[in-house]
Amino acid sequence: MCGIVGYTGKGLALSPVLEGLRRLEYRGYDSAGIALVVTKGAPLWIEKRAGKLGNLEEILGDAIPESHSGIGHTRWATHGGPTDDNAHPHLDNEGKLALIHNGIIENYVELRAELEKRGHTFKSETDTESVVHLLSDARKTHKGDLAAAMREVCGQLRGSFTLLAIHSDEPGRIVGSRRNSPLVVGVGEGENFLASDVSAFISHTKRALELGQDEVVDITASSIVVTDASGKVLPHREYEISWDASAAERGGYAHFMLKEIYEQPKAIADTLIGRTAGLDPEITAGIDLKGINKVVIIACGTAYHAGLVGKYAIEKWADISVDVELASEYRYREPSVDAQTLIIPISQSGETMDTLMAMRYARSHGARVFSVCNTNGSTIPRESDAVLYTHAGPEIAVASTKAFTAQLIAMYLLALHLGRVRGTLDSKIAHEIELELAELPAKVEQVLETVEPLRELTRKFKDSSSMLFLGRHVGFPTALEGALKLKELAYMHAEGFAGGELKHGPIALIDTGTPVIAIMPAVGTLLAEKMASNVQEVKARGAIIIAISDAPLASADHLIRIPSTHEFLQPILSVVPLQVIAYEMAIARGNDVDQPRNLAKSVTVE
Ligand code: G6P
Repeated sequence: MCGIVGYTGKGLALSPVLEGLRRLEYRGYDSAGIALVVTKGAPLWIEKRAGKLGNLEEILGDAIPESHSGIGHTRWATHGGPTDDNAHPHLDNEGKLALIHNGIIENYVELRAELEKRGHTFKSETDTESVVHLLSDARKTHKGDLAAAMREVCGQLRGSFTLLAIHSDEPGRIVGSRRNSPLVVGVGEGENFLASDVSAFISHTKRALELGQDEVVDITASSIVVTDASGKVLPHREYEISWDASAAERGGYAHFMLKEIYEQPKAIADTLIGRTAGLDPEITAGIDLKGINKVVIIACGTAYHAGLVGKYAIEKWADISVDVELASEYRYREPSVDAQTLIIPISQSGETMDTLMAMRYARSHGARVFSVCNTNGSTIPRESDAVLYTHAGPEIAVASTKAFTAQLIAMYLLALHLGRVRGTLDSKIAHEIELELAELPAKVEQVLETVEPLRELTRKFKDSSSMLFLGRHVGFPTALEGALKLKELAYMHAEGFAGGELKHGPIALIDTGTPVIAIMPAVGTLLAEKMASNVQEVKARGAIIIAISDAPLASADHLIRIPSTHEFLQPILSVVPLQVIAYEMAIARGNDVDQPRNLAKSVTVE
């Protein structure tokens, strides 16, 4: 949700800022803009354009301004439409101070009214522009000290923000701050970076600094100073980034999404490494897992679907009741939570605002938090009592694929761990499941080897107005995930239903030729027969059945065979063809696969 980058150093600033924006574009692509300090004391050099980064690059042409510090922004619009005027950076009235922002300033209306009274002229409809005018005034009060001005201004803001500012009187200096929104420092040699996430500067440095809540960072080419809201200088919390630049590149694939689909065997294997014989008991040290009486999983989007699968596994193996909650709904209901509640937030980015806020609500009511996250050092794991990291590597495509299968693995590991610690899971059964888990990377590989025909199959339904997904048990959340992928990428109406629920309403949607994807439960399980009946019911009403199954199915018009596995683990295999179908459908319908309309990958507003 908005990508932010800043560079200061011995090199020319434009190229690392543009490169950073390219890598952060997955966070939003409604507009892009750059501001650079070219001449000390003169108005800043600024270019911004509505639309994708390519539009900005087009007008930049080959011109490379002589500048060694600057900031860049790629936007996911909240306040004010995706226009040139609303694009960041925003300038003060002298054109010497530029500001970029990710988040929402909730009190911007009152701030704006007050600033207009003081004579400031506004050029956009954004909440951000109020902050640049405030900062401009505060800088004057603080005799040109941009960091002191930033601290003062942050104290006047409500909402969430990452802010970066430059002023042409101080070439080489960038000041940033954050509250409930991500910002990391990249520590270079004779150059330093600020960005929404490390991918922006990974090709320049693997050293990064974490920034805490309400901290202000002040960088030059040779210095990094972090202070708290009162101006007290804080020690650096440096860490090494564990992946390299190639992980965030397409590597010969047509799209990031396709690359990430094919990276799933590795993402699964890496998430399993060292854990197939159980999680290190130390991982949850400090949480009394025997004493908990309820588990609440909170997540959004695809991560929510991973949570739904997790519920089946935890309830069965750890014999404890589990609620799975949409994070955006959770805290506003003021649900009952206490010290016996274990909260499990699931988040690829670790920054999703809805999930973070829901988790904070539960913590403030005494709950213990054991998060599942793919991003080291992000806010959700930092604020958790325990963390189980997924090791999917950076996920760039907006539609989540490898992060989802890695999250499923994490949920299985966590369910086994809870079952063991609580003494509810027979060790022989646990061992059998662990053996099955270890086979999953190879089985996903097998599925990927057979997806080629899906291109042609998908094209057959390219003009359908709707596609339905059916599943039972863990196949139900898989159906929801398949439908979500299709909506996100193909902009096609898609719904996932529980097979048994069909007869209670959704079956009215079935008409001659309606494509229905049936996720069949593992052969031999009780539900396999029930689901087969549900499939017959829709087929009898004219549906075309595309079945995903580990066994032949007579009623299927098209069969996608997957290998057999433990019934709870099946979503790992059955979701892969669903991802490929959504991918192929997006291409068949001429859509942008990696940057679907209106979406952003990391949603850091509520
Ligand atoms: C956005 C993304 C989804 C993702 C969801 C949760 O909506 O488009 O793909 O599942 O956020 O993100 P998280 O980073 O918390 O897993």
